[in-house]
Amino acid sequence: MSKTDLMNKYVANCAVLNVKLHNLHWNVIGQQFMAIHKFTEELYDDFFEKFDDVAEKIKMTGEMPVSTIKEYMSLASIEEVSPKDFSTQEVLSIVKSNLEHMRELAMEIREAADKADDFGAVAMFEDHVSGYDKNLWFISVMLK
Ligand SMILES: [Fe+2]
Repeated sequence: MSKTDLMNKYVANCAVLNVKLHNLHWNVIGQQFMAIHKFTEELYDDFFEKFDDVAEKIKMTGEMPVSTIKEYMSLASIEEVSPKDFSTQEVLSIVKSNLEHMRELAMEIREAADKADDFGAVAMFEDHVSGYDKNLWFISVMLK
């Protein structure tokens, strides 16, 4: 996959995660409701920003970012979950596997950007990887 194709897949995943994290934010139940409710809010705010930043980075290279929900649904590799009551454990394990997936994709894009001497994208995705590392550490501590 080209750098732009990978970045478009990433944009599509950010769009799906924005919706999916709202689902988890609204439907989590249990004693840790407030902590997980706030954590998922921080994450969807962050993915909303990434969604816009990466799309604009694609524009800067003269390419076209995916811009319709139809395209997001066909390109995304993150799967949605049906709404129900989610335990805090369930939410954390869903979020953990999705962040791991996004971290892998970010690493792949970073490599492609490096090969293309796209230093802006290298810096952007290195930041994303650091952010995923921080949140994955939070999750691993919460799951103990
Ligand atoms: Fe909210």
